[in-house]
Amino acid sequence: GKVAVLFGGHSAEREVSLKSGQAVLNALQSCGVDAIAFDPKEQPLWQLKELGIERVFIALHGRGGEDGTIQGALEFMNIPYTGSDVLGSALAMDKVRCKHLFKAMGLSTAPYAVVDSKRGFDAAAIMAEFGKVMVKPSHEGSSIGMSQASSASQLEAALADAFKFDSQVLIEQWISGREFTITILGNDVQPVIEMTTPNGFYDYQAKYQATTTQYHCPADLSSAETELLQTMALQAFDLVGASGWGRVDAMQDQHGHFYLLEVNTVPGMTEKSLVPMAAKANGASFEQLVVRILEQTL
Ligand code: DAL
Ligand code: MG
Repeated sequence: GKVAVLFGGHSAEREVSLKSGQAVLNALQSCGVDAIAFDPKEQPLWQLKELGIERVFIALHGRGGEDGTIQGALEFMNIPYTGSDVLGSALAMDKVRCKHLFKAMGLSTAPYAVVDSKRGFDAAAIMAEFGKVMVKPSHEGSSIGMSQASSASQLEAALADAFKFDSQVLIEQWISGREFTITILGNDVQPVIEMTTPNGFYDYQAKYQATTTQYHCPADLSSAETELLQTMALQAFDLVGASGWGRVDAMQDQHGHFYLLEVNTVPGMTEKSLVPMAAKANGASFEQLVVRILEQTL
């Protein structure tokens, strides 16, 4: 049946989604799948029915596309779609509630505080507790609106920036160490990737623009460390109710301790992206990866 690749959308990650979606569309078409592009920013979603679309590949990142909204509309229209359902999508997109869940279930994650734009906050007290922090809008991706702070005035500036994107902001204790990501495809966990960047962290520039970012796949970890990280990733993925495919980000501090950062239910599929890299290390081409994800809608 006819497939629509949903990409573009109206989130802050629109540009990334345009690249992910185009790559997915090209791959599906090159495999002979009858697939079309569909941008829900340009076209009303109900047109999927008029176009005779039977299945949807969701390549939308961020709000409106990765947060359960589109998933709910597709459920309502009775059109099968790739990836996580409404609940898994909504939870994974909410960094604050994910942290609460990780903590409640005893999964390792960095200490944190939450600030809401409707309430006051005490920047000095937060800095006294954590020292150095990473500030993240709760519902963004690709490091959008994120910054580091190591003083109360820096925290105030970082929060002002984050509040441009979200009324809820997560403040995490800064973890100094290595950054990893773990891909989950169906029920299988893929090889771990380590990302290194001369930037302070793996930020938007390091993700999509820099030529100085390096990727190590499989990551240089002992087999025990790799297994632990993959187990933690699966636990986080299952805990938020994610399914089908996704990517879990994590860090390792200088003492070797791992910390979960978050779950991405529609991870990037651009040529620089991590999921295709992990799949490739596991022997799957980009086309095979995309077809395997689409098959989950059958
Ligand atoms: N949010 C971006 C697309 C990612 O996780 O890859
Ligand atoms: Mg993310």
